[in-house]
Amino acid sequence: MTGTATPLTMDTIVSLCRRRGFVFPSSEIYGGLGATYDYGHYGVLTKNNIRSLWFRAMVQERDDIVALDSAIILNPRVWEASGHVAGFTDPLVDCRTCKLRFRADQLELASCGRKPSKRPGESDECDLTEPRQFNLMFETHVGALQDESSLAYLRPETAQGIFVNFKNVAQLARRKPPFGIAQVGKSFRNEITPGNFLFRLREFEQMEMEFFVPPAEADGWYRYWIETRRAWYLDLGLRDGNLRVREHSPEERSHYSSATSDLEYRYPIGWQELEGIANRGDYDLTQHSRHSGTKLEWVDPDGSRYTPHVIEPAVSIDRIMLAFLCDAYDEELVGERERVVLRLHPKIAPVKAAILPLVPRDEGMATRARALYEELRRHHVVEHDDSGQIGRRYRRQDEIGTPWAFTVDEQTLQDETVTVRDRDSLAQERLPLARVREWLDEALQRDWRSPKA
Ligand code: GAP
Repeated sequence: MTGTATPLTMDTIVSLCRRRGFVFPSSEIYGGLGATYDYGHYGVLTKNNIRSLWFRAMVQERDDIVALDSAIILNPRVWEASGHVAGFTDPLVDCRTCKLRFRADQLELASCGRKPSKRPGESDECDLTEPRQFNLMFETHVGALQDESSLAYLRPETAQGIFVNFKNVAQLARRKPPFGIAQVGKSFRNEITPGNFLFRLREFEQMEMEFFVPPAEADGWYRYWIETRRAWYLDLGLRDGNLRVREHSPEERSHYSSATSDLEYRYPIGWQELEGIANRGDYDLTQHSRHSGTKLEWVDPDGSRYTPHVIEPAVSIDRIMLAFLCDAYDEELVGERERVVLRLHPKIAPVKAAILPLVPRDEGMATRARALYEELRRHHVVEHDDSGQIGRRYRRQDEIGTPWAFTVDEQTLQDETVTVRDRDSLAQERLPLARVREWLDEALQRDWRSPKA
């Protein structure tokens, strides 16, 4: 029954997100702004679910990780010490003929401005400049003066806010290595080749965790975090065949990394990085110790000192959301009609259940449906929908991925039961009205596997 006949395209996901109010182009009435998006109601609810599931797994259910919320604008010396001022760059080339700008290391993925079937540089008309380095950090000024002395940056990653707080947290949170600090918040990059919807944004929400370990344990923890993060996605129903681990070659690694693996997802644009897990060694704490003059090291009770090594799982909510939406998207024929359905894990789904009076103008049905909705919404995000044909209401809920619908009908008036309809199997069963809340609580705790698997 399940399965899209044609391969999924990014346009299909973009159009669903727009149609159902998950995501809009940012400042659209002014023509938008490249690679920035605004999240609508269902987008916000989905992002909230992803963020809280991550926080639950990374902080709440562990003894060894604490939370932090550092500022977005930090002292600019942070970015000198971290290497971002000098090295957070992409190589750029300009074409003097078509006036377009390309990443020099990704020319094979780009299209010539005049002959889109050719790569930049392939046609005789192309006239490319020599590559030059372009820094991806957004600059701003702090205070009234706009000169070199007031220059500051919007953070391009949340990680540095964690490193510069290492001493505060190590002293005050009463943790000793191995321990981690987790942070969720906006990061900003002036990406040169944006596009592909939520995949590469100029403003995105990162979820990063820096895990500080004794140097001899670094490799073991690196492997541990690759497996732990992979399992998190699979537990939330992402299909195994669409997720893989790819280890970076030494040439590919960032300046700070001694080993990096990407968890890659098979997006409609091909296999791409969903999350990175890096062994950053002692690079960051050493750099900040040197530049700030504050020793960022661990002193054991016996007086021995060392600089902890860092293992970092880092991801953006935006890329996770895009992966879950792509994995969940399905079209199928039900009878004569086609339906679009998002087969999201119930914990990720923006709305957990819909409450539908079959005949809205029937007072008995309307009152019971409203009462059930008011009871359930105190515990879960649920929707009450009484407009339009029941089939159309089901389809609206299918498209936003609502796992269950409770329908109040004729029989409810006689025996105080409702129908529960399952989004994936379309199976229907009857439940006493009085048990619906308990049933939903239990259903949300059940294991869920994608029927597309
Ligand atoms: N602190 C390490 C760091 O920032 P990164 O590989 O540059 O490493 C980590 O980014 C994660 O942040 C990526 O795996 C991806 O999930 C997300 N990310 C990076 N750039 C992004 C962008 N322009 N748009 C959306 N997400 C992005």
